[in-house]
Amino acid sequence: MSTAPPSSPSRSISRPASLGGVLSVPGDKSISHRSMILNAIAQGDALVQGLSGGEDVISTMRCLQAMGVSIEPAGAPGSYTVKGRGPELEEPADILDAGNSGTSMRLLSGILASQSFVTVITGDSSLRSRPMQRIVQPLKQMGAQIMGRQNDSLAPLVIRGGGLRGIEYDLPMASAQVKSAIILAGLSAGGQTVIHQPALSRDHTERMVSAMGGKIEENGLDLVIHPARLNAVDITVPGDVSSAAFWMVAGLCHPNSRILVRGVGLNPSRTGIVDVLREMGAGDALQLVDQRTEGGEPVADILVTSAELHGVEIGGDLMPRMLDEVPILAVAACFATGDTVIRDAAELRVKETDRIATTVAELTRLGANIEATEDGMVIHGRGAGAGSLNGADCQSHGDHRLAMSMAVAGLLAGGETTVHGAADASVSYPEFWRDLDLLLQDAG
Ligand code: S3P
Repeated sequence: MSTAPPSSPSRSISRPASLGGVLSVPGDKSISHRSMILNAIAQGDALVQGLSGGEDVISTMRCLQAMGVSIEPAGAPGSYTVKGRGPELEEPADILDAGNSGTSMRLLSGILASQSFVTVITGDSSLRSRPMQRIVQPLKQMGAQIMGRQNDSLAPLVIRGGGLRGIEYDLPMASAQVKSAIILAGLSAGGQTVIHQPALSRDHTERMVSAMGGKIEENGLDLVIHPARLNAVDITVPGDVSSAAFWMVAGLCHPNSRILVRGVGLNPSRTGIVDVLREMGAGDALQLVDQRTEGGEPVADILVTSAELHGVEIGGDLMPRMLDEVPILAVAACFATGDTVIRDAAELRVKETDRIATTVAELTRLGANIEATEDGMVIHGRGAGAGSLNGADCQSHGDHRLAMSMAVAGLLAGGETTVHGAADASVSYPEFWRDLDLLLQDAG
């Protein structure tokens, strides 16, 4: 777990009389990474619009540019032209830096596994402590040579690719990053690759590969990936539901709120948070307005008003559909009545921080009645009143989702909350604090 650098500024927040406004969240982080990576190895040029400006996506862009991919701004903010190179990239002159981004490191490794040159890929202290064995093992099985620290399980990774063969692989965990690394390698393998998933995880890679002319057969939780050359496609990235989740919880738990979040991607493999908030009693206070399909992904505006939530027990196949939202769900659970029990979320322990430990530690500082369990947490909620949490100093631990979750906790708690490491939000949501201020101002 890293601590917020002293240079990362702090922000103080207290509960406003009302919370309201209309905003758009950044482009979906997962789709943004994939729009760059898949178009880079496709044939032809693509216009990508609405790309996330978050630091994680910038890490992916820089790595691709270091391998000879031309990615140029195309006018409007978030618009880029990617010139596809086809499956063969250029040997980078230096070490690739994935920063804080697990998605960059794991997905790019799937591409590097088929390149006939040597690459070294590393990241920040958080990423260098996250498990890479989960991609190293299948990619080695496909024929790539990979070395890393601690018996090839930690970055920096050294990868010499080429000569891949298709494999049949039982995914040990419902991870979209691992699945995607294998799919990307499988596109350049000799013969088909079969993946058996234990549960559904986000399927943006499968959708985009298919839109680019690749062939992935889906049979329940089994995938068959056929080697393919991809054709570039223009992509309009929808808003990130994981970013919208902060405003869903803020709006539902504040007693005087009305927030409209425009253009949010609602791929069913990502909407677990909407399902859980509804199960907690959100009802009509959480409305999906103007549902439509944009670029092969379901999209809607989300209208949020105040609600009285109650505790809920969650786990099982739902968890991969909302794992990134557990820290903000824990905030909602503090303002619900009764107990919320979160199970089957052990993967949280290997995210940017151990999010079970950091979420419990930081909400405890605000007086929450919350306990960590091995694979989740239990929150004893006290209802919607400001007294359910008391403002205090808290830490991001260098984790973007924790910084934003604690900011929302501060909007709902009594007294003043100071979030140290506030700037960490920019890993996925650089405009987070601006949007928070907008909700305060618009509410008058
Ligand atoms: C992501 C997959 C998930 C998620 C992460 C983004 C992706 O990670 O937590 O924020 O874009 O594929 P895992 O694959 O490790 O579950």
